Amino acid sequence: MEAMFKKLNGENSRRGSMYLEEQLNKSGVVSCIFSLKEGVGALAKALRLFEEKGINLKHIESRPSRLEKDEYEFFISVDASCSPAMDEVIDSLRTEISGQVHELSRNKQKDTCAGGFKDQVYRARRKEFADIAYNYRHGQPIPHVEYTEEEKATWGIVFRELKTLYATHACREHNRVFPLLEEYCGYREDNIPQLEDISNFLQTCTGFRLRPVAGLLSSRDFLAGLAFRVFHSTQYIRHGSKPMYTPEPDICHELLGHVPLFADNSFAQFSQEIGLASLGAPDEFIEKLATVYWFTVEFGLCKQGDGIKAYGAGLLSSFGELQYCLSDKPKLLPFEPEKTSIQKYPITEFQPVYYVAESFEDAKEKVRKYAATISRPFSLRYNAYTQSIEVLDNTKKNCATWLTALIVRV
Ligand SMILES: [Fe+2]
Repeated sequence: MEAMFKKLNGENSRRGSMYLEEQLNKSGVVSCIFSLKEGVGALAKALRLFEEKGINLKHIESRPSRLEKDEYEFFISVDASCSPAMDEVIDSLRTEISGQVHELSRNKQKDTCAGGFKDQVYRARRKEFADIAYNYRHGQPIPHVEYTEEEKATWGIVFRELKTLYATHACREHNRVFPLLEEYCGYREDNIPQLEDISNFLQTCTGFRLRPVAGLLSSRDFLAGLAFRVFHSTQYIRHGSKPMYTPEPDICHELLGHVPLFADNSFAQFSQEIGLASLGAPDEFIEKLATVYWFTVEFGLCKQGDGIKAYGAGLLSSFGELQYCLSDKPKLLPFEPEKTSIQKYPITEFQPVYYVAESFEDAKEKVRKYAATISRPFSLRYNAYTQSIEVLDNTKKNCATWLTALIVRV
């Protein structure tokens, strides 16, 4: 199914996985995302609903769902003149095919997405952030955002609460970098730091850069970014009604969870190793590498001295799970990519299992060995001196072309 369409996160829309730029002629488009359980004919059945209403799709893309492993998400847009018929199709998708539908268009009055998307002000604000991400081009400074007082208040609550836990629960690398971010990047309870300042800081530390993104990317695109030391970061903040909860990544998650670790050399190398392993890897390995990423960069624990600390961003940005992960409730297993990569995991509740790394260096070596088992027509090495990726075998010519294309994308 995936191969039938350009992936939702393909090059032309990668900055807008939850977003499509509106047409300049303002005639308007109606866009929505719906998800379907994987199965022969599922998409055809859905498309028939559009056909029956005489709706001509202007655009359709697909991607595997990040929320439900056996589902695919489809992004479609149609001309605004089809809007009334679209309402009927959406109803049919929900009732006849059990599809989950998320309407995205700017001017639609109703929206069924949970949480903040019911709030028109919040939706409009999210559109502003999506515009920044969509229009961003490599090499440009990331636009400065004036956060509202309400947004700053939300950040302040999250910042203050999490900070109380870091000394005892976060790994030493996180605690070493955090004061530097306070000193150089405006990390304060009353200030949401700017991605551009952080990106510049990270570049001087480890060569990592931030790139604004409107929503979730496909695993392949996201991991490819890591290979080039690019981290895709959201810039918006969660809805203010629930400051301690977000169902999706937001700037609190990125800045408090991810950023400090990307300023650490060992961690930067380790996470880049996952990215390098993904380049040219078959789809089944991408899923495994995404699982490795989940249990390390997002939910990893590591040994430190006599104890165990958290280094995963999903933990470092969650007041509840950061405490839970170091309690006696979850099961802890040693990080071994072969086993970790096939571990099932829930995405809407605390993890029942965490993997513990000996160190970032050790985890990097393990990922490197694991990557060597992935069959692909070439192997790659990152040259930190030239900051480039080298192709190591005799299929160099084709791969160089392929990599050039990838570099342009990243
Ligand atoms: Fe994350």
